[in-house]
Amino acid sequence: MTHGWLRPAWVGWMALWAGVSAPAWAATPAELLTTYNTQAGAPAQAARGQAFFTTRHGREWSCASCHGERPVQDGKHAGTGKVISPLAPAFNPQRFTDAAKADKWFRRNCNDVVGRECTPAEKADVLAWLLTFKR
Ligand code: HEC
Repeated sequence: MTHGWLRPAWVGWMALWAGVSAPAWAATPAELLTTYNTQAGAPAQAARGQAFFTTRHGREWSCASCHGERPVQDGKHAGTGKVISPLAPAFNPQRFTDAAKADKWFRRNCNDVVGRECTPAEKADVLAWLLTFKR
């Protein structure tokens, strides 16, 4: 018998499965918040997240410089002027649905704004605050 397992029917089912199943890194904002909370070892505080987001940390920009004080509408990149879609998940369903993407931008933006990576507690606080915005 030669390659019986590669029967067309099998291949079709596998392609279908690969197409409909979510990638391993897909997440919901609530799941990411749980992850950050667990890493931080303490529950997030939305008010602390707001303060962190809207104040400067000894450098030129705050998070709000690009994302806005209330990130429920388009922001504007403080350097390039490029439009940035809303950060609050209720106003942009793409947000915080990909752990790798969220972490990549946390890393980059925190380095710009704070001069270091954000701690899990800071990420949890910001995300908890972003989740308080409802339509
Ligand atoms: C210089 C402009 C700028 C500043 C300042 C900035 N950001 Fe961003 N941020 C961006 C851009 C550009 C993107 C990527 C484009 C996009 O996703 O719309 C982004 C994306 C993100 C994302 C990705 C979310 C997702 O899942 O899609 C997070 C999280 C984030 N920023 C958090 C922050 C935090 C926290 C701060 C403050 C420490 C901050 N940003 C400051 C420009 C900025």
